[in-house]
Amino acid sequence: MQRKFKHSKKSIFYIVSMEYKKKWIEDTIWNKDQIKLGICVKENNELIGFCSLIKINLVNGSAEISIMIRDNQYWGKGLGSEVILLLSDFAFSERGFNRIWALILENNIASRRMCEKCGYKTEGVLRRSIYKNGKFQNQVIMSILQEDFYQMLKEKRTD
Ligand SMILES: CC(C)(COP(=O)(O)OP(=O)(O)OC[C@H]1O[C@@H](n2cnc3c(N)ncnc32)[C@H](O)[C@@H]1OP(=O)(O)O)[C@@H](O)C(=O)NCCC(=O)NCCS
Repeated sequence: MQRKFKHSKKSIFYIVSMEYKKKWIEDTIWNKDQIKLGICVKENNELIGFCSLIKINLVNGSAEISIMIRDNQYWGKGLGSEVILLLSDFAFSERGFNRIWALILENNIASRRMCEKCGYKTEGVLRRSIYKNGKFQNQVIMSILQEDFYQMLKEKRTD
């Protein structure tokens, strides 16, 4: 397995062999602790981002949700909210989860707003809980419970 470092302005990433990529995809598909999905544009199937449910805890019926839309030309058009709603619905309806939570950088206003629009409530602030971009930063924890989710869908339908 060959691994090389490559530097970009913001981050360091690896260049890996096809063999390594294939194994990563297979491991990800069969990993029971997480579900990772691509986000594609319906019209042309272009892959524009990823979303996931990670840290799945079957005893507590909980998981952490996350999303990344790589290309900022797609931001601010409601796509993020659509994905969070669909993935939350999948988690509650198909998997019977009880609680979904998200950890968001305190200054990531777009992500906080997106979660808020999807019915997620802020539970609190984890002070200086992550080292990112050269400094310790606060994270906000937001969550939604199954019953809150269904109630929100009911209210949206009657609007
Ligand atoms: C977070 C992310 C997925 C949001 O996707 P999106 O498609 O832009 O989300 P939506 O359009 O559904 O909602 C974003 C909301 O934030 C608002 N918003 C964005 N930037 C804002 C700012 N600086 N101040 C106030 N509101 C802002 C938008 O106006 C929109 O709210 P509105 O519909 O009420 O107008 C996308 O920005 C992204 O991938 N960012 C990089 C990765 C990331 O931060 N992931 C989250 C980690 S948990």
